[in-house]
Amino acid sequence: MNEINLGIIGTGLMGFEHIQNFNLLEGARVAALADTDATMLAKAEAMSADSPRTSDDYETLLSDESLDALVIATPNFHHIEVLRAALSSGKPILCEKPLCTTLADTDAVRQQVTRDNLTFQVGMEYRFKPALAEMITRVERGDAGFVHMLSIREHRFPFLPKVNDWNRFNANTGGTLVEKCCHFFDLMRLILGSEPVSVVASAGQNVNHLNETYAGQTPDIWDNGYAVFDFENGARAMLDLCMFAEGSRHSEELAAMGDKAKVECLLPQNIVTHGHRDTWVVDKTDIHVPEEILNAGYHSGATYHQNQAFLAAVRGEAEVIVTAEDGHRAVAMGVAAQMAAREKRRVDMTELGL
Ligand SMILES: NC(=O)c1ccc[n+]([C@@H]2O[C@H](COP(=O)([O-])OP(=O)(O)OC[C@H]3O[C@@H](n4cnc5c(N)ncnc54)[C@H](O)[C@@H]3O)[C@@H](O)[C@H]2O)c1
Repeated sequence: MNEINLGIIGTGLMGFEHIQNFNLLEGARVAALADTDATMLAKAEAMSADSPRTSDDYETLLSDESLDALVIATPNFHHIEVLRAALSSGKPILCEKPLCTTLADTDAVRQQVTRDNLTFQVGMEYRFKPALAEMITRVERGDAGFVHMLSIREHRFPFLPKVNDWNRFNANTGGTLVEKCCHFFDLMRLILGSEPVSVVASAGQNVNHLNETYAGQTPDIWDNGYAVFDFENGARAMLDLCMFAEGSRHSEELAAMGDKAKVECLLPQNIVTHGHRDTWVVDKTDIHVPEEILNAGYHSGATYHQNQAFLAAVRGEAEVIVTAEDGHRAVAMGVAAQMAAREKRRVDMTELGL
């Protein structure tokens, strides 16, 4: 198997998770790391199995011709700066979600990726959570029948502290419905096999980070909301997000309600259920995820499978699964939902050029 030399730019929480998972993947070698924070860089170097070269400057890493592929895991607002420099290398890139914080930037990236026929994957790894992948398979093979309603609930803890607290502000993140909910909007498109037409939403910041101050500024990041999309195929999908819900049985509950059955995924317990309409019986399946993979991060084993898929795409053995187009469309749904909540009106996706 060809060894793939990887360069990782941004070695914070998610950079660590990439390193831990590449350590487990055969044929992957973390060869270079770049981060402006010396402490994070040293920790990342220590957890890498392959004694990578390190730099405090991503341009030094980009000039390393021995690298075969790049991973970008800097803060959301910074992706576009790295991408402007990295895309011209022609090397395969795995870029963390959200692709960028504005639609002008995601559009420019998807256009360049298409024009130059680049291998480019967006880190929307929820598709790769083993239990969610099982739910998606069941819906795709018709277990639920035609899915009229998709409900996605995330009830969790507040945003974690980040290096230089970048995630406390809309300007740095793109806003909560872009920053974290792009995962769920990507899942809506995938599970329903259709594109969104319009959205209504209500969201805001009511509990979290209100007593914090950074350089004299109080965080403005939203911590809860609902967003309801109508899709081209007539289905509707709802996101229910609460980030002051530490006391929840399940951090994520996804339910696809079809004319035949209800298929549900419960995380982090890795449970998939099938609810029969005729008998009202609910069959429950526990999805096994090996400990080694579960322990290599915080995403129920998703990063392992995502990065494995990226390596296959780099080797030319498989198509990219989450494309720049997917990244653009997920950000567009987040931007639309934020507009709908802020302006208290229905937003049509055509307003965003989709
Ligand atoms: N896929 C997922 O589910 C998931 C989960 C968490 C975070 N993320 C994404 O991963 C990215 C990183 O998030 P994180 O949680 O690791 O944040 P983090 O703050 O823990 O890490 C970001 C790192 O980037 C470094 N950095 C900042 N500017 C830099 C520069 N100019 N050059 C090099 N390094 C620089 C910081 O020093 C820091 O170490 C974000 O885009 C975030 O949205 C994705």
